[in-house]
Amino acid sequence: LASIEVDVSALEPGMSLTVKWRGKPVFIRNRTDKEVEEANAVALAELKDPVARNENVDASAEATDLARSAGEGKENWIVMIGSCTHLGCVPLGQAGDFGGWFCPCHGSHYDTAGRIRKGPAPTNLPVPTFAFTSDTVIKIG
Ligand code: FES
Repeated sequence: LASIEVDVSALEPGMSLTVKWRGKPVFIRNRTDKEVEEANAVALAELKDPVARNENVDASAEATDLARSAGEGKENWIVMIGSCTHLGCVPLGQAGDFGGWFCPCHGSHYDTAGRIRKGPAPTNLPVPTFAFTSDTVIKIG
């Protein structure tokens, strides 16, 4: 299966990049401390979808901010398939009621960890298999 390598060295905190992988957009974001703090402040009981939906952690893992992120020491990084889990539109970044992503098709609001918080989408934006191969390169797939 095809994997790609993405140079993220130009992404300062607060900057994002969208790449194409297997015909789908993948959002890569270097989140600000504030975005991480906001996501961490959310009680898991408030989440519509309590599952991490991250290929890199256990399938039953809870949707904590850490489990949604690139993990310990790289919590600022988030990598997700940019396809709304409702009907597949591409959500807009840094938009919506929770400051994360907003899907304009039918109004789904995702938070700064890409978790669905409001609207018709049933699940969090999926995190594909990925890994940092160096401090500045992410391999997706
Ligand atoms: Fe995103 Fe319907 S496709 S809300």
